[in-house]
Parts: sequence; C-alpha cells; structure tokens
Amino acid sequence: MIDFDNLVKTYNKKGIATPKKEMIKTKEQIEGIKKAGIINTMVLDYVSENIHVGMTTEDINTLVHTKTLELGGTPAPLNYQGFPKSVCTSINDQVCHGIPSSDVILKDGDIINVDCTTIVDGYYADASRMFLIGNVSEKHKRLVNVTKECLDLAVASLKPFGRLGDIGYAIETHAKKNGYSVVRNIGGHGVGIEFHEDPFIYHFGKKNTGMVLFPGMIFTIEPMINEGTSKVFLDAQNEWTIYTWDGGYSAQYEYTVLITEDGVEILTH
Ligand code: MF3
Ligand code: CO
Ligand code: CO
Repeated sequence: MIDFDNLVKTYNKKGIATPKKEMIKTKEQIEGIKKAGIINTMVLDYVSENIHVGMTTEDINTLVHTKTLELGGTPAPLNYQGFPKSVCTSINDQVCHGIPSSDVILKDGDIINVDCTTIVDGYYADASRMFLIGNVSEKHKRLVNVTKECLDLAVASLKPFGRLGDIGYAIETHAKKNGYSVVRNIGGHGVGIEFHEDPFIYHFGKKNTGMVLFPGMIFTIEPMINEGTSKVFLDAQNEWTIYTWDGGYSAQYEYTVLITEDGVEILTH
C-alpha cells in the first residue's frame, strides 16, 4: 500500500496536483470493477460476433441489453441522465452518444462505435470498439486503425507516478502525425463506483504535466479522432448525439484501465 498522505505532501510541495483520496480504489472495489470489466468485454464480444450489414442499431441495443442481463449485469446507459437506450451506437460522422434506433440500418461501408458500460454488483466498467460494416474504404479503415493506435499508445504511456498529460500527449501526437484531429471537449473519466467520476482525462496535452497518477486509480481513456476539424456539435433534437462539425468521419476506442504498483492493467477490451 502506498503512503497516500505523505506522497500527497511531497508532490504538492513541488506544485504537482495529486488525486483526491476517493480516486484511489480499495482492493475490494478493484475486484468488483474487474468483474464488471470481464462481463462488459463478453457483451462487446457478443456484439462483435453478431453485428452485420442490414441490422438496425436498435438490434444492437437488443443484443447488448439481453446479453448484459443474461450475464448478471445491468446496462449503465439505460435511463442514465435520461438516456433512452442500453448502449451508445455512433456511426460515421457521429462522434459519440448515438442513440440506437430502428430507423438506422447498418449499410456497407459504415464505421460504427459501440460503447457499452456494465454495472455488476454496483461496480462499473466502460469500453467501446469500432466495427467495420461490409467493405469499408481504405481511407476510413486508416482512421479506425490510427484511433486504436492512439488508445494503445496512451496505455503504453501509463505508469505509476506518471502524469495525466502524458496520456493526451501520446494521443494528440499520433493523431496529428496522421493528419487527424482530437475532439477536445469530451474526455475520459474516473469510473468504477459511479459511471463518471473525477478526474477528467484529457486526450490532448503536454508530457510531464498535470495530475500525478497513483496506483489504485481507475479511469477510462476514450479518444475521439476526427478526419477533419476537431469541432463538433450537439444534436438539437435528442440533445445527446455529438456530430463532427464538417461531416468528416470520427472514430473512438475506449478502455477502462487500472494504475498498479508496477504498471497498468486494462480491465476491459
Ligand atoms: N459510455 C460513455 C462514456 O464513455 C457515456 C455514455 S453516457 C450515455 O463515457 F448516457 F449516453 F450512455
Ligand atoms: Co467512458
Ligand atoms: Co463508454
């Protein structure tokens, strides 16, 4: 166990921000969140096995809802701040928080993010993946691949007593190098006891800046990478779905991660 109070003092003396005590999960909480992560991964695997051209995003919602309950979990999105469905399904120029609908039919060439969050015994795990529907253009495959690389590089940058800014630096550098932009006003978040906890996880930033990461912290990293401008807008009708400003495509991957005493563990896939 880390000596929390002493570490906080030492870092704060140097002017470095530290996590609040509540951000450090107990052993019991970590075990619970890991279990939620395993079930969340099983739900996304089930989507992966069943997603196909011609189905609707409402069908994806049914798959997620049914499988989650079957595995003993609860889908966290349903009724979360009024969200009407059990999963987010965001297609093409939708950045995130797409609402499943029987009017939205998956068609050849679509790219779609499916974002699942599962509650098990009161603990939360949150992850999302991209799916390629039918024959996707090389251009959009590249966007999806680079987005996954952004997440993987961010995870590779994590270490106990590393800094929050390292995450954003890894993501932004790789996205820009590939000619893409990073959505700035939506980020990752602490997760586990609630759906969205502190701290906010920036997907852009400077190396060696920001809060120091302590073992026991659990949070998501979920970069949204755009082909064109990073600017986005909110769907005025449903007040949930975020779109790219310029209609360019957007991709996202999300993991829930745990900072350990000697590295990092990915709790979802
Ligand atoms: N799963 C999303 C995230 O990664 C949050 C969705 S909120 C919902 O943080 F209400 F739209 F489900
Ligand atoms: Co999240
Ligand atoms: Co999510």
